[in-house]
Amino acid sequence: MILVTGGAGFIGGNFVLDWLSDPSREGIVNLDKLTYAGNLDTLSSLADDPRHVFIQGDIADYALVLNLLKKHTIRAVINFAAESHVDRSIHGPSDFIQTNILGTFQLLEAIRAYWSELKSPDKEAFRFLHISTDEVYGSLGPSEAAFSELNAYEPNSPYSASKAASDHLVRAWHHTYGLPVITTNCSNNYGPYHFPEKLIPLCILNALAGKSLPIYGDGQQIRDWLYVKDHCFAIQQVLEAGRLGQTYNVGGWNEKPNLAVVQTICTILDELRPKDNGSYADQIIFIKDRPGHDRRYAIDATKIESELGWRPAETFESGIRKTIQWYLNNSEWVDGVVSGSYRDWLEKQY
Ligand code: NAD
Ligand code: DAU
Repeated sequence: MILVTGGAGFIGGNFVLDWLSDPSREGIVNLDKLTYAGNLDTLSSLADDPRHVFIQGDIADYALVLNLLKKHTIRAVINFAAESHVDRSIHGPSDFIQTNILGTFQLLEAIRAYWSELKSPDKEAFRFLHISTDEVYGSLGPSEAAFSELNAYEPNSPYSASKAASDHLVRAWHHTYGLPVITTNCSNNYGPYHFPEKLIPLCILNALAGKSLPIYGDGQQIRDWLYVKDHCFAIQQVLEAGRLGQTYNVGGWNEKPNLAVVQTICTILDELRPKDNGSYADQIIFIKDRPGHDRRYAIDATKIESELGWRPAETFESGIRKTIQWYLNNSEWVDGVVSGSYRDWLEKQY
């Protein structure tokens, strides 16, 4: 079995579904705390699949993690579990320090205790994959080269600082204890099951509900968008063939200003679900900027492409269309999310 943490969240959930869609693959133990961002509806299609073992629990629970590793003779761990939303980290950094730093520390210690007792060849074959972000590299100027694996870490938000700290712990556990780790640093993901606190799902759902589409500042901040299934495939390839102790940047070669992203969503919705009057773009408003808002992220994915042969399958144009169609077709999942604590957050933020 493999152990996935945070597998009820956006990327982890997509990863679990993609992995188990191949019947030849081994099972998954899915450890998730089920914070506001964890959603078992995402995994409902696996209800009768014995290869999916869901455990509600915390990566900071050393005894629980060690017990799961031993009980299921885990051969690899993929760590998606984290607090992931930059705006929430600005309002309240404490959970980010707790899960992203202290949780990763306890997880590493439990894995180290388990791995150090493994015998050859299981010990050599074991892997710990840590899923991280491009935000650890800080903000790029308009003409600076995209982030490579050699860029210095310059995190600017409580979220990115906590992720940077966790990446450093993972690196140190490799260097000091020999733990077989690999870290991936990915750009902005989008796609099915994305929690609507993040820009793309928020704007799709607000547009359909006749609400404002809130753009921070001038909307010219640039993100490098990657369809979530392309990220999941990259992680599979890194697990199979990535080099130990290495980091791999993962990105879609899709740099877009936020305003252009939201305008694209409006244009596609105008076509797929036309309004009686006017365009969804009429709902765009500009609001106060995010404090410390990073201006530009861009990923140089040359290393993973040349070493592992990975390439994203989707362009932004194909991926965003699929994503919008998914939200139009999956109102049951959307209704479940929108009726939850997500509402309280919206009132505080906007
Ligand atoms: P998400 O917020 O949608 O999901 C996080 C999941 O982790 C949730 O299911 C939550 O319940 C769980 N969780 C939180 N704290 C936990 C804990 N202490 N123990 C166990 N489970 C816990 O996040 P996401 O967008 O799916 O991101 C997954 C990972 O990928 C994160 O590490 C994030 O930093 C990284 N990442 C995200 C993006 C992106 O665009 N979303 C891009 C690059 C990297
Ligand atoms: O770059 C990878 C990161 O991408 C991940 O590490 C994070 O976990 C993930 O949340 C995401 O962070 P961002 O802050 O880039 O994503 P978000 O969707 O919150 O915002 C995208 C951009 O849109 C950002 O520049 C802020 C802006 N924005 C966001 C919201 C929610 C708005 O203009 N209006 C909004 O209402």
